[in-house]
Amino acid sequence: MLKKNLITTLCLAAGLTGVTAQTGSASTLSGQTLQSCTAVTPETCSLAHKLGRGINMGNMLEAPREGDWGLRLDAPSIDRVAGAFKTVRVPVRWSNHASASADATLDEVFATRMDQVIDALLAKGVYVILDMHHNSQLFGDRLLPNEFGVDPAVMETRVVNMWRQIALRYKDRSPKLLFELLNEPHGRMDGEPWNVLAARTLAAVRTSNPARTVLIGPSYWNNVRDLPKLRLPPDRNLIVSIHNYDPFEFTHQGVTYLPKPFPTGTTCCNAKQQQTMTYSLDAAVKWSQANGYPLHLGEFGANQSADMASRETYTRFMRDEAERRSIGWTYWDFAASYGVYSPKTGNWVEPIRRALLD
Ligand code: BGC
Repeated sequence: MLKKNLITTLCLAAGLTGVTAQTGSASTLSGQTLQSCTAVTPETCSLAHKLGRGINMGNMLEAPREGDWGLRLDAPSIDRVAGAFKTVRVPVRWSNHASASADATLDEVFATRMDQVIDALLAKGVYVILDMHHNSQLFGDRLLPNEFGVDPAVMETRVVNMWRQIALRYKDRSPKLLFELLNEPHGRMDGEPWNVLAARTLAAVRTSNPARTVLIGPSYWNNVRDLPKLRLPPDRNLIVSIHNYDPFEFTHQGVTYLPKPFPTGTTCCNAKQQQTMTYSLDAAVKWSQANGYPLHLGEFGANQSADMASRETYTRFMRDEAERRSIGWTYWDFAASYGVYSPKTGNWVEPIRRALLD
């Protein structure tokens, strides 16, 4: 998987040091550089700003089956995250828990499990971002063990029909429940195919949830690079989700699922690395100002193969820079290989916890 933010390197190489260079350094950011809300309702604008500090429950429900990747979204995890964060993003591999046919009838046992998770989180008072994650075949990615394939002719209709059912199921839940239509569309979904599918899917959601806030992100793994290609359906309750893993060779060092893994040993964050991190945030804010949608930073994080001092520096810097632009965020991830919590020790990974929360 050629992931995400090689773009920053490309832009810098092409001399497009862009937004940061043109508008002054990050330290001169002013009120005018904050995101805009002119395309959305006051409620959705306010919600975007209330999401604040959050966490991704990674490697749990987006594994082919919960538990396949060693983690479960259990009650102690819910207590821990709800006591520390305002928002919890729940990645879910819905495509593996619905019939293979076009109607994609949800597996009732799994859906009941999801009811428990969502209700337990909402009962704690946190905002919940319910996300459709890893719809592998839709992107042209390989299927994993325990993941089933479907007739390619029904892949997209299944997304629409899964969301029709999910939305109906949760239509009466609190407005603190937000839907995110698709994590990191890429591959076959880059550009226009995603615009078309997002519009169809949102229309299905709107039949039962006329005003719930929905997150939609650009293609190319929610990379800011593709914001100019994002064509949003006319709808005043949208937040635009972006992901930022710059500097990619630092955050993804030692990660073996990349086609060409990066060596370990890269530290963070010198001035050039800081510039790659703020470049995307500034470009996103510029896009927001031009288009009127508030933003959410749905993922950032540094893999545990990086040295801890650098991970702490990276995490604090990205948190601060997002917050200086009033962008709410959800760190990737809670307890897996980027984790802020160690299931092994049963404790927070203190340097990451303090970089996020202190
Ligand atoms: C993926 C994870 C991955 C993370 C960082 C997430 O969107 O779901 O599998 O570890 O990004 O690359």
